[in-house]
Amino acid sequence: MTRWWFYRWQMVLVAFMFMVFLTTPATSQPQTNILITACSLVNATNLQNFYANLNSTFQDVRRQLSNNNTYFATAENTRNSESVYVMGQCRNYMSTRDCVACFDFADRSIRYCAGANGGRAVLDGCFLRYESNSFYDQTTLPGNVGLCGNRTSSRQSVFETTVDGLLSNLSIATPKIPGFFAAATAPVNGTNTSTAYGIAQCAPTVTSDGCGACLQVAYANIKSCATDVTDGRGVDSGCFMRYSASPFFPNNTIMDITPFLQDGGSSNKGAIIGGVVGGVGGLIILLIILILLWYRRSKKRTSPGSNLHGATELQGPMAYSYNDLKRATKDFKEDNKLGEGGFGDVYKGIVKGGNIVAVKKLAIGSNNAKDNFESEVRVISNVHHRNLIRLLGCCSKGPELLLVLEYMANGSLEKYLYGDKKGNLSWKQRYDIIFGTARGLAYLHEQYHVTIIHRDIKPSNILLDNDFQPKIADFGLARLLPEDQTHISTRFAGTLGYTAPEYAINGQLSEKVDTYSFGIVVLEIISGKRCTDVPNESAGEQYLLEHAWNLYETRMHLKLVDETLDPSEYREEEIKKVIEIALMCTQSPVSVRPTMSEVVMLLSDRSRVQNPPSRQNVNFNDVRIQVDNSTSTTLSMSNADATITELTGR
Ligand SMILES: *[C@@H]1O[C@H](CO)[C@@H](O)[C@H](O)[C@H]1NC(C)=O
Ligand SMILES: *[C@@H]1O[C@H](CO)[C@@H](O)[C@H](O)[C@H]1NC(C)=O
Ligand SMILES: *[C@@H]1O[C@H](CO)[C@@H](O)[C@H](O)[C@H]1NC(C)=O
Ligand SMILES: *[C@@H]1O[C@H](CO)[C@@H](O)[C@H](O)[C@H]1NC(C)=O
Ligand SMILES: *[C@@H]1O[C@H](CO)[C@@H](O)[C@H](O)[C@H]1NC(C)=O
Ligand SMILES: *[C@@H]1O[C@H](CO)[C@@H](O)[C@H](O)[C@H]1NC(C)=O
Ligand SMILES: *[C@@H]1O[C@H](CO)[C@@H](O)[C@H](O)[C@H]1NC(C)=O
Ligand SMILES: *[C@@H]1O[C@H](CO)[C@@H](O)[C@H](O)[C@H]1NC(C)=O
Repeated sequence: MTRWWFYRWQMVLVAFMFMVFLTTPATSQPQTNILITACSLVNATNLQNFYANLNSTFQDVRRQLSNNNTYFATAENTRNSESVYVMGQCRNYMSTRDCVACFDFADRSIRYCAGANGGRAVLDGCFLRYESNSFYDQTTLPGNVGLCGNRTSSRQSVFETTVDGLLSNLSIATPKIPGFFAAATAPVNGTNTSTAYGIAQCAPTVTSDGCGACLQVAYANIKSCATDVTDGRGVDSGCFMRYSASPFFPNNTIMDITPFLQDGGSSNKGAIIGGVVGGVGGLIILLIILILLWYRRSKKRTSPGSNLHGATELQGPMAYSYNDLKRATKDFKEDNKLGEGGFGDVYKGIVKGGNIVAVKKLAIGSNNAKDNFESEVRVISNVHHRNLIRLLGCCSKGPELLLVLEYMANGSLEKYLYGDKKGNLSWKQRYDIIFGTARGLAYLHEQYHVTIIHRDIKPSNILLDNDFQPKIADFGLARLLPEDQTHISTRFAGTLGYTAPEYAINGQLSEKVDTYSFGIVVLEIISGKRCTDVPNESAGEQYLLEHAWNLYETRMHLKLVDETLDPSEYREEEIKKVIEIALMCTQSPVSVRPTMSEVVMLLSDRSRVQNPPSRQNVNFNDVRIQVDNSTSTTLSMSNADATITELTGR
């Protein structure tokens, strides 16, 4: 059984690689560039029957799509043991000829699945999928993705705002439009007026609410693309969404969607703020889907080998066996250790199929914690954002709780600031790290359907991918904030020096705690100095934060910049602005500190900071108490304790 899950995951990774390498802009009319292909790793038993059924159903779908004005078709053949269910869909702006051409292309690319009992191909112009069980009503499932196109050289925040509004409108209107398809444009308010183009589509076999929930997920996934990306796509089981700065559909398919935006002003807000799920209805649907999924999974564990639903469907966290992970990490050998985090040690492991993962051994052991562990893990595993580490799976059936996470070959930011790679980051890379970290945090705070406060932002929790884009690790392990309130807790789970004073001293927890830590980390990224470095006071040195404020007061803050940075790499105005934003983040009380989405806006906006930070908003005594305490090291113990109380106290 475990084996099956391993294969399943391997397939998922293959699918992701396809997405990364085959995403190219559509130019030809049939729009045949492949976004995703995936094959089930379970083969049909009777291949002759299977191929016969596959051929006849594919032919049936092709025949239906060859009719004028038909964009969607299903066909099944269940006459013998090898049932085949097929769904094909073209985007409604395609001509019949192009639709069939796209179908043929999808057919060819899916055939490489050979005898696999499930497969799918998602292209820009159409999609084709077959399974051994019916999947027609599926909407959104874990594994949904946003595919981001190339980045342009300039950050186009105007374009982003327009696209945001357009996609939000599309995700609200499309479920109310018969046929579940909409194409719309929006004018971009820039110096040279141009246009943003967008479409949304659901399978007509899902419900209107299911379509809405699916498009909300697609919308949230697209939003995780960087701001300067001029085309993006959201792909899920039951829906598809795309935007571009250049037209990809003919003018005559554009429709006025405003009549479908009228009722439900509140869901409009949900779409903008809720991110993943807009409106209460959508939330309930998503919850039901999650519960169903979980229920199916737990049923599956007891019936090995069964393959109840779509074999190519990407899944949530995989349940790993303890022994497999023990083997993968060579019995948690010291050599395989990647680091020690607040919540436990992390090891490098090679799972079956050869994929490298990071395995985190959680320093929480009680049985009571385990129940909560599973529910927390379910929440975390559905967080999808390019700046957040993916949770691939977990194991709660052994002596320790284990998490299986994406492995980042470049390691953590700490290594590049203070470790053996010190001085290797250019200003552009540093800026990208700052920007990406801000986006990841804004997502956790405001765009995911529950608020997640990280509480422990620091360089060792910011990992770097192959392109030196940041991915935040360890989020969600401290408990989730109740939706509407600031939580008072007696202990804190942060790292001293990065922790906001109100949280360190009074246990006052809010999203602004992460804003503070973010500000400190930005100062470290710019200066290359640790916030906890003890100054030589007789030589007139100060702690980093105090030093930064003093320089800023005298308009000398460029002096903060790391000397290893080549001054020709950065614009002075830009770096000054980032320092000012960082200082804003370290202000108290929390009301004067920006939210992380405000930080993202400040960073992407070309103008100057409107409300410059003010020194009277900083309490250095509080800061100093923390820093001085940090030299005594009961840190990881207190973190582990805090986690247990938090998990059991719910
Ligand atoms: C399925 O069939 C393909 C070739 O038809 C083969 O390479 C693969 O190993 C088979 N997979 C399993 C799980 O039997
Ligand atoms: C199914 O179609 C493929 C190509 O379209 C062909 O090679 C194969 O022989 C067909 N199989 C059956 C059983 O009809
Ligand atoms: C489909 O439309 C084309 C052109 O509009 C027309 O020539 C053709 O006869 C139509 N086919 C059917 C089956 O209606
Ligand atoms: C995107 O980047 C790839 C590889 O760098 C390039 O081949 C392609 O033409 C680019 N697409 C656009 C629209 O710029
Ligand atoms: C979205 O819909 C609202 C309400 O109809 C409209 O005011 C706004 O301009 C639309 N935004 C875009 C980008 O189309
Ligand atoms: C469009 O831009 C102009 C000037 O750049 C500004 O005055 C106007 O408010 C903008 N309109 C919108 C809808 O953002
Ligand atoms: C606007 O368009 C004109 C001509 O197409 C071009 O010369 C100019 O550089 C453009 N300006 C901007 C800001 O893109
Ligand atoms: C579509 O409309 C835009 C402006 O409304 C125009 O610039 C463009 O040429 C049109 N394209 C076609 C193919 O008609």
